[in-house]
Amino acid sequence: MIITIDGPAGSGKSTVARLLAQRLNVGFLDTGAMYRAVALAVLNAATDENDRSAVAQIARGLTISFDKDRLLLNKQDVTSEVRTPEVTAISSIIASNPIVRERLVELQRDIGKLGSMVTEGRDQGTVVFPDAEHKFFVKADLEARARRRQRELAYKGVVQSIRVVMDQLRQRDERDETREHAPMIPAKNAIVVDTSDLSIAQVVEMLIDRIQGRKP
Ligand code: DC
Repeated sequence: MIITIDGPAGSGKSTVARLLAQRLNVGFLDTGAMYRAVALAVLNAATDENDRSAVAQIARGLTISFDKDRLLLNKQDVTSEVRTPEVTAISSIIASNPIVRERLVELQRDIGKLGSMVTEGRDQGTVVFPDAEHKFFVKADLEARARRRQRELAYKGVVQSIRVVMDQLRQRDERDETREHAPMIPAKNAIVVDTSDLSIAQVVEMLIDRIQGRKP
C-alpha cells in the first residue's frame, strides 16, 4: 500500500507523514531530502545551481540512499547537512531541473517496490505514484506555515523575523508551483487537508480515519 502526502513547506506534512508511517507500521520516504542531497552535492562542487547541464551531470553521478532515518549521499551521512539554510535556498532551483527529477523519480519508484510506505513530497500523488491507494494534499495558510518554520528555526538557535520566513516560503512555493516539470498541485483524487488550525495529532487521526474508511 502506497500513501502519498504532498504539500508545501511548513504545512506539517513531514511530521504527519512520519507519524502516520509509525502508526501504520509501514516505511517512510522523505523525497524532499533527496532533492536536498543533490543540492548539497551541487554546493560542495561549487557549481552554479542554475547551470542545468552541470547540475544534471552531478545528479547522474550520485548515489542517494537511506539507512533507517539517515540520509546517505555517496554513502556519507548527510542527514543534518541537508537542512542548512544554504541547501534550503537552492533546493527548489535544483528540483526544477528535469534530469534531476527523472533520476529521483526512478529511485523513488524503486523504493516503492520494496513494500508499503508513506511517501511525502510535492509530486508523489501526481507523478511518482499515480496509482497510490491513498493520496493527501496537506496545506496551511502562509502565516501559519511561517510561524511553524520560525519555531523550528528557533529550536535550532536561528532567530529570523516572521517577514523574512514568509518571504522565503513564498518564493519557494512560487518556484515549486510554477515549474514546468511536476509542479506542486494536488492530485485530482487527493483529499486536501488544511492544517492551519489543527494540531499534528489531529491531522494524523484525520488521515488514519480516512485510510481505515471510518470517514467518507
Ligand atoms: O520538502 P523539502 O523542503 O525538504 O523539499 C526540498 C525542495 O525539493 C523543495 O523546494 C521542493 C522540492 N521537492 C520537489 O520538488 N519534489 C518532491 N517530491 C519533494 C521536494
